Amino acid sequence: MDSPPRPQLFDFHGVSMTHYFTDNWENIQNFQARPDDILVATYPKAGTTWVSYILDLLYFGQTSPERQTSIPIYKRVPFLEIAIPYAASGKDLVDELPTSPRLIKTHLPVQLLPKSFWEKNCRVVYVARNAKDDMVSYFHFDRMNMIQPEPGDWSNFFRRFMEGKMVFGSWYNHVSSWWTKKQTYSKLHYMFYEDLIEDTGREIDKLCCFLGLSPSAEEKKVITGGVQFDNMKNNGMANYSSIPMMDFKISSFMRKGKVGDWKNHFTVAQSEEFDEDYKRKMTDPTLQFRTEV
Ligand code: A3P
Repeated sequence: MDSPPRPQLFDFHGVSMTHYFTDNWENIQNFQARPDDILVATYPKAGTTWVSYILDLLYFGQTSPERQTSIPIYKRVPFLEIAIPYAASGKDLVDELPTSPRLIKTHLPVQLLPKSFWEKNCRVVYVARNAKDDMVSYFHFDRMNMIQPEPGDWSNFFRRFMEGKMVFGSWYNHVSSWWTKKQTYSKLHYMFYEDLIEDTGREIDKLCCFLGLSPSAEEKKVITGGVQFDNMKNNGMANYSSIPMMDFKISSFMRKGKVGDWKNHFTVAQSEEFDEDYKRKMTDPTLQFRTEV
């Protein structure tokens, strides 16, 4: 069967999107959250799968070992707004989840999140990654994922990223407005990919504190080991290898898992141009990213 053509970006309430994430919009907006739902919110490529897997192990690693060998991560932590033909929508997958709590993934910018999450006062874990590495990861992802728009060449992608013409819109607006939300919504834990790379155990401790969990030292050791990059890359339930629209011959989903890979992609001129533009856009001194650790 021929794959369908790559989708086009269009403006959706001021955010660049493709139809795969807006076709089910009414149902998404009417989604009914439960007070114990846990939402993992990210801009694409920030480490969503990593944190989803950590959460899944924290809640269900001990109680449901068979889950670890039989259910891929994208079914354990469904992607709320996705709607692709011939597959259950993310919203339906969430509704069918038998677990409690339900773990739910979204890439929606804060202003487009279904309001039920706020009304039910759900816990939200936001993960952010520095823009340069995020851009590189997103470029390779768009190359290999047939339901994403054509990435074009690197210099073209570089420009589009700075203009916010990416699926789920501008990285700058996404990370900044979720950061601002944190100031008024106390059940939001804001994490950084770079911190997870630096010290996964420490970040899991902070996450547990936010969630009110206290795993044993042994359990924590198992989780910290299980979520190391190479282990996730080789884990068929975590590495997306069962998703047909991804072409792993082009690039892996678990590609490099590093901070600083942007240096292998940005020219010196691009890096300078990027930094200048970044200073103009990211004016809140309290939100700081690291591009190396
Ligand atoms: P790279 O493309 O830079 O390798 P998301 O899950 O939000 O789509 O993010 C995917 C990015 O997170 C990819 O980045 C992937 O390799 C990285 N990643 C996933 N699991 C990881 C882990 N356990 N450790 C480090 N990076 C991880």
